[in-house]
Amino acid sequence: MSELTLSFNEYAKETMKYRKKGIPVPAWKLIKSEEQIEGIKEAGLINNQVLDEVARNIKAGMTTEEINTIVHNKTIELGGIPAPLNYEGFPKSVCTSVNEEVCHGIPSDRVLVEGDIINVDVTTIYKGYYADASRMFMIGNVSSEAKRIVEITKEALDLCVKELKPYSRLGDIGGIIEPFCKKHGYSVVREIGGHGVGIDFHEDPFVSHVSKPNTGMVLLPGMVLTIEPMVNQGMPYVYLDAENNWTIYTEDGKLSAQFEYTVLITKTGIEILAS
Ligand code: MF3
Ligand code: CO
Ligand code: CO
Repeated sequence: MSELTLSFNEYAKETMKYRKKGIPVPAWKLIKSEEQIEGIKEAGLINNQVLDEVARNIKAGMTTEEINTIVHNKTIELGGIPAPLNYEGFPKSVCTSVNEEVCHGIPSDRVLVEGDIINVDVTTIYKGYYADASRMFMIGNVSSEAKRIVEITKEALDLCVKELKPYSRLGDIGGIIEPFCKKHGYSVVREIGGHGVGIDFHEDPFVSHVSKPNTGMVLLPGMVLTIEPMVNQGMPYVYLDAENNWTIYTEDGKLSAQFEYTVLITKTGIEILAS
């Protein structure tokens, strides 16, 4: 018997209990096999090394295009493929989202300056398996407000991972993250969320960061998800760049921060596969 995932018989038995109580259950295809989990873990290790390489090199005066080059080259060097490149027409190998950019920023000749905060979101394909994670970086000395939103966003994600358990409900994720952010004076983006990941870039389920506890499907061992809260300094509202059709910004122009982990639900807890 696996500690990491459910056999089909175990799945059938477990889901029967929840179905009887009227609780939604994930489709069988969302339960990864041990072999798939092994592959996703390997993709996660590469993804972490790529983000570590960004961490070692990022600095004021650098363009976001240079971050793209670092991510692209390091991913290839480690035997992976950068998943964003050509994904639904995305033109680069990584997303770089600066200050009021919420997510899906496109690397360009924009120069990072002291005081900027930037999310670097890396997704690696390795042997056909996907891992997806992002980190915030602070460029030089940043304002105390900028530092605080970055810290609270990381704390929100870490708190969620700490409190989540196998057989928690999908809604518990937002049920942990949103009240924590709100308590610290921040809002959480509603329209964009996490997702199942591993066999594909974006799988079911959609992972809301503003959901209610004790709602939504039960989280079964063998599920692999991203949790990736986007936390705003001002209002939660966002808009899409009408020219590039990718980049999302805060409507009020205030700061936004995001961290993303790929996590595996096991029989005994939550394992972080990429961060
Ligand atoms: N990595 C993002 C996520 O967390 C998705 C980026 S899609 C891209 O889901 F095309 F912009 F790369
Ligand atoms: Co991502
Ligand atoms: Co993601």
